[in-house]
Amino acid sequence: METSTTGRTVVITGASGGMGREAAHRYAGLGDRVALLDVDGGVLASVAEALHAEFPDADLLEVVCDVASPESVDAAREAVDAWSDRVDVLVLIAGVVQKAGPITELPIEEWDRTQNINLRGVFLMARAFIPAMPSHAGASIVTIGSWYGRSGHALFSAYCASKAGVINLTQTIAGELAEKGIRANVVCPGNIDTQMHRKALEDEAASRGITFDEMKAIEWAKIPLGIAGPASTIIDAVEFLSSAKASYVTGASIDVNGGVLFH
Ligand SMILES: NC(=O)c1ccc[n+]([C@@H]2O[C@H](COP(=O)([O-])OP(=O)(O)OC[C@H]3O[C@@H](n4cnc5c(N)ncnc54)[C@H](O)[C@@H]3O)[C@@H](O)[C@H]2O)c1
Repeated sequence: METSTTGRTVVITGASGGMGREAAHRYAGLGDRVALLDVDGGVLASVAEALHAEFPDADLLEVVCDVASPESVDAAREAVDAWSDRVDVLVLIAGVVQKAGPITELPIEEWDRTQNINLRGVFLMARAFIPAMPSHAGASIVTIGSWYGRSGHALFSAYCASKAGVINLTQTIAGELAEKGIRANVVCPGNIDTQMHRKALEDEAASRGITFDEMKAIEWAKIPLGIAGPASTIIDAVEFLSSAKASYVTGASIDVNGGVLFH
């Protein structure tokens, strides 16, 4: 049975990014204690400062962490251990997009970078933090896949494969943790209006020699619901999956994609 939906200890990776800071804001607003992890310490400090200003009583921990590095992840676990005796919710958001290009021209380093952050990062974080999660107390893990992990897309081999791996790995984690009453689920976003999406539009606009707004109009016209969703739409699903309302949901993949893919 789930216990409380507030006062939990929540660990979030990618907390400097669009979805990550939205998640940190959401959980801090719910009254949870929040550890913010990201490799970008400068932005992380400004995210934490803004949260402190809005929620003066919030118990926040900032940890600069590279999820692709076992040493860095272990150091983050130590920092979290010194701050909290448990982790109730693990939200694994950190990720990168590869440089677009055909397989035959994709540098091996770019393949490895993408896998190491997106997929190995989830493995390393789960491996390090699952032992801190209490059994039969409503704890859960939420990962972020992608509609690009649901099927392959030309020019994005490394990214698609890494996100397909995240979906599959989350199911394995769910299978391994079910007997402890710890759940694991994955949210698969479509196009979400964060820095990641805007940078992709900018790059594609530059390569086509058109403006950002023209590129945005082309891409958004392909989305049945007409816009790239705000980050809050993803965090609504993350919040649900980590709440008592999802107490019987595990191993699930939830599409939040404006209709770009029916799965
Ligand atoms: N924005 C989209 O359209 C979209 C669509 C589908 C899936 N996603 C996925 O959603 C997640 C969040 O994306 P976003 O849109 O918020 O992007 P974002 O670029 O705003 O945020 C990503 C964050 O991850 C951090 N990060 C990168 N490498 C890291 C590392 N090695 N260790 C720790 N942190 C690292 C970055 O510093 C950044 O703060 C990603 O996993 C992304 O692949 C995004």
